[in-house]
Amino acid sequence: MALQLWETLKEAIITYTGLSPATFLAVLALGLAVYYAVTGLFGPSDHHPRSRDYGEETQPLPPPVQLGEVTEEELKQYDGTDPKKPLLMAIKGQIYDVSQSRMFYGPGGPYALFAGKDASRALAKMSFEEKDLTGDISGLGPFELDALQDWEYKFMSKYVKVGTIKKPVPVTEEGSSASEPAPAADKTEEKSSAE
Ligand code: HEM
Repeated sequence: MALQLWETLKEAIITYTGLSPATFLAVLALGLAVYYAVTGLFGPSDHHPRSRDYGEETQPLPPPVQLGEVTEEELKQYDGTDPKKPLLMAIKGQIYDVSQSRMFYGPGGPYALFAGKDASRALAKMSFEEKDLTGDISGLGPFELDALQDWEYKFMSKYVKVGTIKKPVPVTEEGSSASEPAPAADKTEEKSSAE
């Protein structure tokens, strides 16, 4: 009876897989071995409680600390390389504490390049290029600005805002010409009040 079953099984293996029964069983065993090796790596095991292997991850995070205004240069020290410092990232000049997502932004994480920076341009353009790792969003198109807005909403709802980026006062020609009319108006006012 058992022999007959094995014969049927052998035939089925050859018909459906094209492999000899021995090869099929070897492939099956290898598959199972890989499966258990992989799940053993990630799943909790009875003999080694998670807390021992992943003790660091399960430790509660300290509450976010408000920093106020911070320069882009100062923000760099919060890129996760110092585990004692919070992990920060900025969008549109607003700084968020992303320490809870160390697996994304921490060293070795897929988005580590955004940490300690205002990544607005990169997020808007869905780019990982070095030149886009900046808070400068000038010249972006409407779709890119929309994408950036969505990122900002996501960050606002998921993370705590802990500060803003202190911008150096821009000294551009555009800026100075735009502010010219105001002082002119002031002067006339001064004159009239002096008379
Ligand atoms: C092949 C393309 C990509 C795939 C498959 C992918 C996949 C993912 C996944 C699965 C997550 C986790 C989502 C969650 O659990 O909340 C994630 C998060 C994220 N992705 Fe991507 N991604 C891709 C491209 C990009 C690009 C191009 C950018 C920006 C330049 C980006 C920026 C981010 C950021 C910032 C997060 C973290 C958001 C948070 O803090 O919650 N991704 N991505």
